[in-house]
Amino acid sequence: MKIKSAVFEKSAPTRAEAPRLVLPEFAFIGRSNVGKSSLLNLLAEKKDLARVSDLPGKTQLINFYTINLNWRLVDLPGYGYAHVAKTQRADFNEAAADYLEHRENLKATFVLIDPRHEPHAIDLAFVEWIVEAGVPFSIVFTKIDKQSNSQTQAGIDRFLRASGVDQLDPAPGFFATSSKTKAGRSEILQFIAAQL
Ligand code: GTP
Ligand code: MG
Repeated sequence: MKIKSAVFEKSAPTRAEAPRLVLPEFAFIGRSNVGKSSLLNLLAEKKDLARVSDLPGKTQLINFYTINLNWRLVDLPGYGYAHVAKTQRADFNEAAADYLEHRENLKATFVLIDPRHEPHAIDLAFVEWIVEAGVPFSIVFTKIDKQSNSQTQAGIDRFLRASGVDQLDPAPGFFATSSKTKAGRSEILQFIAAQL
């Protein structure tokens, strides 16, 4: 798919403020700093479309970007852990969860995972939630330029096993990407094009 235009449409704190005009949407979610905004910029071929930062938690709103005037990339707030008293609890952004469960024009969701690390409890909890919620999703393994292909493959296998995703029927699709080398870009765009 050729990207002819990519424009920031709107930042919305909740689904109620999402753009009224209904276009097919493709959402990206994952732990803070996993590379959501970088991946969006890679897909859109526009390096400053979404804000990239070393400081985690930059994207706190639901950001809508309209591509080729007829579909949207949606950057969802990263999830993390909330420190509540002495315990930690999984902290999914409520607006993101509500968007994923109820946005009618949401076509597909990409859950971003960094395959370099041991599966994080928060990622496993999120996958459990999204399976439970019945929201169709694919997994995007990010930053694959940071290690060898065999290490990436081992990380992917480890995550698919730990999350139980390899047991799902149908099994969700997955992609391996790098915003540095552009790996995975055309595969994701093809997947999106097939749903437009
Ligand atoms: P939040 O908005 O805070 O949730 O983060 P995010 O998931 O949008 O991550 P972002 O795209 O801002 O990237 C976080 C950091 O990782 C930045 O320093 C990026 O330059 C870096 N990064 C993102 N993708 C890649 C990648 O594919 N390869 C490498 N080497 N670095 C990456
Ligand atoms: Mg971001």
